[in-house]
Amino acid sequence: MSRRSAARGATPSGRSTERGNAAAPAEVGAMFDRIAAVYDPMNAVISGFQEPRWRRRAVGATRIRPGMAAIDVATGTGKVAAALWRRAQPGGRVLGVDLSPRMIGRAERTFAGRPGLSFVVGDALALPAPDASFDAATIAFGMRNLPDYRAGFAEMQRVVRPGGRVVCLEISRPRSRLARLLAAWFDHAVPLIGRLAGQGEAYAYLVRSVWSYPAPERIAMIMAEAGLADVRWAGMSGGMVTIHVGTVPGAGAAPRTGPEPSARTGIRPAARGDAGVRDVAPGGSQSGP
Ligand SMILES: C[S@@+](CC[C@H](N)C(=O)[O-])C[C@H]1O[C@@H](n2cnc3c(N)ncnc32)[C@H](O)[C@@H]1O
Repeated sequence: MSRRSAARGATPSGRSTERGNAAAPAEVGAMFDRIAAVYDPMNAVISGFQEPRWRRRAVGATRIRPGMAAIDVATGTGKVAAALWRRAQPGGRVLGVDLSPRMIGRAERTFAGRPGLSFVVGDALALPAPDASFDAATIAFGMRNLPDYRAGFAEMQRVVRPGGRVVCLEISRPRSRLARLLAAWFDHAVPLIGRLAGQGEAYAYLVRSVWSYPAPERIAMIMAEAGLADVRWAGMSGGMVTIHVGTVPGAGAAPRTGPEPSARTGIRPAARGDAGVRDVAPGGSQSGP
């Protein structure tokens, strides 16, 4: 490590063990602290301005309705949390949790003055919330940073009531030819753009952590091992991004608050900007734009 990078703090390798990201959470949190100021614009560029669409689908898949409560884990600058909050109005509440105080600071400043929307510094593996206190939990582009994926899903499941949903949105290694082209862009351009933004090491971490992240089938298995039921997943943007949805099992799997679901089956058609789960195949994938 150069003296300059030592002064800025070590960047984690981004590689993973069998369980999860090999880096200590404190190292990961410190790295996100360093990139907090450039995080949103960098995300927009790297995703080809697709990330709002990906986030909308993830938020739609929670089935959060007015009056309900949700938690957004590894919330970063709070975009998913704020979208959940909008969906839960009137009367709903959303808590965004992140390890990085600077990310949380940005979320608080951006989304100030929204009653029921709050942000707190905390660890995804020890969420600051009682059991079954939310109707849904989300994690967007956060799971691959956790040292233990199964423990991460188990902790999200712990804080969601029976029948509620756990939704994970994450970058994945695509398989189609188009997707392999996109992957080449990701592998080469992302570290370069990161260097231009003065954060080359952090964005090299991003690429390595995506390479090390398990395939969607494996993530679905991990979710099931963590205790989630009815696990489904689907690819988006040619498989560059995958959304996984699982349901917290248990008796009395009724909504904690809010109106009853309208669909008899519990699977409702996807509305505009709403992934629902209609297009998330059980235990399988479906790539699409
Ligand atoms: C790539 S960002 C994603 C942020 C946001 N969810 C989004 O969609 O833009 C990953 C976030 O995970 C957070 N993070 C990493 N490890 C964490 C942990 N163990 N507990 C909570 N947050 C964590 C980082 O601080 C960072 O803000």
